[in-house]
Amino acid sequence: MASSVHSRSSPVLLPNSSVQTPFLPKQSQLSVFKKKKPFNFASKKVVSCKASNEHSSSPNRFDRRDVLLGLGSVYGATNLVSDPFALAAPVSAPDLDICEKATVSSKSAGEIKVACCPPKSAKIIDFKPPKFSKIRYRPAAHLVDREYLDKFTKAMELMKALPNDDPRSFMQQANVHCAYCNYAYDNGDPNHQLQVHFSWLFYPFHRLYLYFYERILGNLIGDPSFAMPFWNWDAPPGMVIPEIYVDPSSPLYDEKRNVDHQPPKMLDLDYAGEEDDLSKRDLIKSNLAVMYRQMVTNKTASLFHGSAYRAGEKPSPGMGSIENNPHTAIHRWVGDQRQPYKEDMGNFYSAGRDPLFYAHHSNVDRLWNIWKSLPGKKRRDFTDTDWLDSSFLFYDENANLVRAKVRDALNTRTLGYDYQKVNIPWLKNKPTPRRPGRANGKGQAKAAETNNNNDTVIRNVFPIVLDKLVRVEVPRPKKSRTKLEKEDEEEVLVLQNIQLDRDVGVKFNVYVNDEDDEIPTGPEDSEFAGSFSNIPHNQNKGGEKLDTSLTLPISDLLEDLDVEGDDNIVVTLVPKEGKGLVSIGNIKIDYIRD
Ligand code: C2O
Repeated sequence: MASSVHSRSSPVLLPNSSVQTPFLPKQSQLSVFKKKKPFNFASKKVVSCKASNEHSSSPNRFDRRDVLLGLGSVYGATNLVSDPFALAAPVSAPDLDICEKATVSSKSAGEIKVACCPPKSAKIIDFKPPKFSKIRYRPAAHLVDREYLDKFTKAMELMKALPNDDPRSFMQQANVHCAYCNYAYDNGDPNHQLQVHFSWLFYPFHRLYLYFYERILGNLIGDPSFAMPFWNWDAPPGMVIPEIYVDPSSPLYDEKRNVDHQPPKMLDLDYAGEEDDLSKRDLIKSNLAVMYRQMVTNKTASLFHGSAYRAGEKPSPGMGSIENNPHTAIHRWVGDQRQPYKEDMGNFYSAGRDPLFYAHHSNVDRLWNIWKSLPGKKRRDFTDTDWLDSSFLFYDENANLVRAKVRDALNTRTLGYDYQKVNIPWLKNKPTPRRPGRANGKGQAKAAETNNNNDTVIRNVFPIVLDKLVRVEVPRPKKSRTKLEKEDEEEVLVLQNIQLDRDVGVKFNVYVNDEDDEIPTGPEDSEFAGSFSNIPHNQNKGGEKLDTSLTLPISDLLEDLDVEGDDNIVVTLVPKEGKGLVSIGNIKIDYIRD
């Protein structure tokens, strides 16, 4: 990524003892300082990281930092999250009798109804782990040989040739995704539709979905040892659409893909609807940094898997790390911009119609295995029975309807498969601080600009509508924690009540203490804490928007930035796509155990 053309200034301490006291707004004050004119730094009474003569020469630079919000009290803002234990029960397999058509919409193309309910069955069998004589290995799609490709092609051909009403057919299988992801079912309460994304159901649902898909393919070619490929997008050789998927005469091909993203175009794991202008080398660096952040920094179950989601609850409590990014970015990068609903990969209802979807999710599934194998005491799956006993319905290779639970999905080897071993280059790509470390800056005030004559103070700032870059100062309830305390509890930044229409593509990035005057850069910087993104899916039901949260780990990041002793952090939110279409209810710092 291009670095700033301006040189950085280090913090300047004013010769006044009061500067050692961190600036904190009054406890009751919740204020926004809106910049109308460039700051007059000479008049400032507190220390600022920006204090430097450099600023006076470029008066427009501060106009970019559209808003600075000061959050005065830790407990000042209303906690709008409902009690997660109100109805503690696992999400149960949906009742196919009350499956409804999915509603898909977009601002420009309007609304359509899509029939994606599966055929009914008088009988439901409970899942039993398969018997097998040897583990089948899913290969990296860019490494397969001719013999494998012929088999895979044949299997897909046969699946596509099955009659549409066969539950194992290509269309019916694609509809499984549509039904579970575009609200065809309800979650044990007619007021709350079932959604497997944006929650802890994401990994197990997709693992089981792919498992049955693979068994069907194997069965069709009479080879129960068949294993489908994975798209190895987390390593440079896999950062293009694998060759085997782009031959127009192959059943692996899908016409509804972004025409500008064909090989050799390199995948952007931080994609936000616009073409990157990075060199290949910088793009690889950025991609590997995204992977490091999402896989290594996110080291507890809820950070990785997402938020708890139980029977009777409203959908979409919060995505886990990989689901959010890059999983979503890849869907949107592959989806065809010419299609009304960005089909196929760019919309949940149609994503399963692209054979590439299954290779994409195979890699997501592989990352779940890798995540658990990395060092760290908290890299375990949940033990909560509401998670373990959540169940789904799938048709198996014999067209029997099977009820499978999350607990059936925990170990791929129990399911009879594993992944080909390939390099994991992102393990060594830890983001680095953009600003030089603050050698003796511990405990110092952050760039909390005071209110002066030029500023407008607005109270009750939340919800924030994210139509421009926004900075929020967030107090930290604890600081200078010991190593042990940090191992015990991860410090997290929580964005609550993120609201948006379900059918819009949105992405914003979150930075911590990136006080550069330029727009913050990218994932290769420690300051980049993560991002939020949405795959358009369906119409809001009864005006109910998507209402979710984002939880980002910051313990490591604060250490890397050498600000562990600070009382506050400055959080910068940068809308990348869908400006003005998202609002955020509150931002706070919390401490979590798993
Ligand atoms: Cu179910 Cu990648 O989405």
